[in-house]
Amino acid sequence: MIERRVSLSLPHRVFFTEGVFEPAHTLLRDVLCPAEAEAMRVRRVLVVLEKATATGQAGLEAAIRAWFAAQDGLLVLAALMVIPGGEPCKNDWPQVELLWTAINDAGIDRHSYVIAIGGGAILDLVGFAAATAHRGIRLVRMPSTTLSQGDGGVGVKNGVNHFGKKNWVGTFSVPFAVINDFSFLKSLPPADRRDGVIEAIKVALIRDAAFFREMESEAAALARLEPGILHRVIRRSAELHMQHICTGGDPFEFGSARPLDFGHWVAHKLEQLSAFRVSHGRAVAIGMAADLQYACLSGLLTTALRDRILQLIEGVGFVLWEEELLAILPDGQPALLRGLEEFREHLGGELCITLVTAPGEAREVHEMNDALVLQSLEWLRDRALSKAGASVPATLIQ
Ligand SMILES: NC(=O)c1ccc[n+]([C@@H]2O[C@H](COP(=O)([O-])OP(=O)(O)OC[C@H]3O[C@@H](n4cnc5c(N)ncnc54)[C@H](O)[C@@H]3O)[C@@H](O)[C@H]2O)c1
Ligand SMILES: [Zn+2]
Repeated sequence: MIERRVSLSLPHRVFFTEGVFEPAHTLLRDVLCPAEAEAMRVRRVLVVLEKATATGQAGLEAAIRAWFAAQDGLLVLAALMVIPGGEPCKNDWPQVELLWTAINDAGIDRHSYVIAIGGGAILDLVGFAAATAHRGIRLVRMPSTTLSQGDGGVGVKNGVNHFGKKNWVGTFSVPFAVINDFSFLKSLPPADRRDGVIEAIKVALIRDAAFFREMESEAAALARLEPGILHRVIRRSAELHMQHICTGGDPFEFGSARPLDFGHWVAHKLEQLSAFRVSHGRAVAIGMAADLQYACLSGLLTTALRDRILQLIEGVGFVLWEEELLAILPDGQPALLRGLEEFREHLGGELCITLVTAPGEAREVHEMNDALVLQSLEWLRDRALSKAGASVPATLIQ
């Protein structure tokens, strides 16, 4: 037997800026043509732009073309594609082949770049096509949603949905660079802009009590989605997510512990049960609330801390109830308990759920008590009922 180690040390860089394609902006140039690299090599670039981002940002497409046209011959825009994004693009395998064709037709090789501009879904699609063409083309991600700027876009994964399962095909691949341009967020509807804040609260709860307190003191401004605080929160969220990926010891997720998935097992099931009517951000807010109450019922979290955390989540504008949470499947099983089983399978058999014991402190549990899970959901329903003074059906037959 011969054994050697393959060691890799890859930089993982996220830049924060505004107006990256304004004529005098040099960040992208500096990233794509670093001074120390083979200076005279021509770099070809394929830009893939999400349609919603292009539509929302008047003149963006023209600005990209003009920005590249103003570069010297060493940086060449080989092609610019505008394609539809959102989750449907990850369910559309021909899009992958379309991107491979574009990469091939544009003469993109391993010294070239693919730049993806858009929400987390299109970044996953383009990232997968880039990672598999020529065994890996350098990818620059430019996330255009708060969620992808603070969370998904700064990760090291890509993928598309297959066999009806989310992210079934994909790779782990560290992007060449991520450029978070806050000016892209201006065209996002307010509800989508708010969604990214929940991943910041999530990562603060598991990692950073001071960040949690900062958001508490700025809750009113955050609720108004004021750019100053919103951008600070996205930046810190991105930093904490990257810190976990780069120093947590398991960047390619070989183990079962997924602290960044706090609140996500409920969220995934709720998104599915609502046929994606409930957005990921709202579903995560509700999933976190359910697991906070579960931690309370298990004696791991005080009611005072639970209420303090819920006050922040609701204070920034999240509503913590959806009827599907108490849905009953045709075989009589509560749908959320089925979701817990699915999450266990997703992790490879061993359940690993992150529970928060105080802001900035979390622990893993490997079993969940079904009765306490249901009690937590009923508690959320009763709380919503008393807040709204309206009637919410106790169960919903699918
Ligand atoms: N790779 C990872 O590590 C990772 C991590 C978390 C999530 N994800 C993935 O990210 C995806 C979710 O990403 P998301 O939350 O950004 O959602 P999204 O990509 O679906 O975008 C949300 C909506 O906003 C629109 N949009 C995007 N940018 C816009 C802009 N600037 N102006 C106006 N509209 C705009 C999109 O068309 C879409 O309708 C999921 O597929 C999820 O699986 C990946
Ligand atoms: Zn998430």
